[in-house]
Amino acid sequence: MSTYIFVAGKNWILSLAELSTYFQTRNIQFKIEYFSTEFFTFNFETPLDSRTINDLGGTIKIAQLKTTLPSKTLKEAFLERNKPAQKQTIQTSITSEVLDGMVKASDKLLFGISVYTSDNAIKPLGGRIQRFIGSAIKDELAAQGKKSRFMGTGQERGEAQLSHVEVLKKNLVENQAEVLLCIGKTQTWVANTVAVHNPFEFQKRDIYKPNQRVIFGMPPRLARMMVNLSGCMQGKILLDAFCGVGTILQEALLEYATVVGMDVNSWCIKATEENLAWLTAEYSISGADFRVLQGDVGRLAEKVGVESVDCIVSEPDLGPALRETPTGPYAHKIIEKLEPLFFGFIEEAYRVLKPRGRLVVVTPVIRTRSREAVTMSLDEKLGEVGFKRVYAFTDDMFSSEAPEHGRLMGATSLVEMDERHKIGREIHILQK
Ligand SMILES: C[S@@+](CC[C@H](N)C(=O)[O-])C[C@H]1O[C@@H](n2cnc3c(N)ncnc32)[C@H](O)[C@@H]1O
Repeated sequence: MSTYIFVAGKNWILSLAELSTYFQTRNIQFKIEYFSTEFFTFNFETPLDSRTINDLGGTIKIAQLKTTLPSKTLKEAFLERNKPAQKQTIQTSITSEVLDGMVKASDKLLFGISVYTSDNAIKPLGGRIQRFIGSAIKDELAAQGKKSRFMGTGQERGEAQLSHVEVLKKNLVENQAEVLLCIGKTQTWVANTVAVHNPFEFQKRDIYKPNQRVIFGMPPRLARMMVNLSGCMQGKILLDAFCGVGTILQEALLEYATVVGMDVNSWCIKATEENLAWLTAEYSISGADFRVLQGDVGRLAEKVGVESVDCIVSEPDLGPALRETPTGPYAHKIIEKLEPLFFGFIEEAYRVLKPRGRLVVVTPVIRTRSREAVTMSLDEKLGEVGFKRVYAFTDDMFSSEAPEHGRLMGATSLVEMDERHKIGREIHILQK
């Protein structure tokens, strides 16, 4: 069995849903052993390819487990400053497996430590734990004749964690020179980082593509998560019926899917075609297969063909850009006005999908002055058309040691909303 730690992006439930769907789609057997707002522990039957990180929008770091220790020991060591517990922490966490890559590094070594925990009692101690383990690793490496330098995070930083950019820039993955200490309720996982999210790649696809549109833009990371939630992979056909400048299609093309785009706006067709051609060259995607059609979504089946695609991922119009936070009645009015577009799309999407095909669709969440969240209710329409909601999490994904996961089970939609935003996104996963 191989165990890996995944450090979650901002929206941890969305990150966890993306990971589990990604592995399910590829028939990679897994069990979730632990989950928290900060990190997840997954058990696999075989080792994981570290390049998986490039396929994921919601994972910041992947680390391979080296050893575990009881969180109780760590708490005694740092909350109670108990000396024997501190000694035991060093003995159990700094094993030869943890140091292996660092010892083999060719030059003088730079290494770092990041502490992840959702336990508020331990969080403030992160810096102390980091420095303590850091100096013990430095001593141990010196005893083995290896000179090293410890990269701390400074007192001013709230969390004792190296960012993925720091890990990338300092080449810490290469020598397995970042140690993660992931502190769960009863167990602590000690792991070496094997892959980090590369924000520069996602940024390149966002701001260097030939055609952009700021107001409608969807971040490529969110687009990738939605593509993964749709069960898209190499060999499948993915459609975005509201393709805009093609952000979702780009991410699906990178998974070697065949992609089809449609938009009512003729400028968008040309813009998407150019963006996809740019992506194909930039990423050397051999055999890239895409087509982009102009048309109103009401004629989707006629244009694209009945039962012709495996997955549809779309963000239709989310309403007007709001300068001020709207009142409740105004928010309801916006939603009401959008409903015919969404409901018509759902009908057409059902016709275009192959049997058991998936639709991942965004509906707006509008925050009102009274802090109420106004959403669009799809259930009646879904029932009428025949779509079933897909539960992002099922019982069989969790190992028997996993924390109580009941509260995740009911999640039929996932919300992506920033505190600052007036309009957020509700992501629905539906199956024909
Ligand atoms: C929110 S944007 C999609 C943005 C896209 N995900 C991107 O990143 O570029 C919605 C798109 O839907 C298109 N649209 C609006 N009404 C439509 C309709 N009835 N049929 C097809 N496309 C439509 C708009 O032209 C717009 O490009």
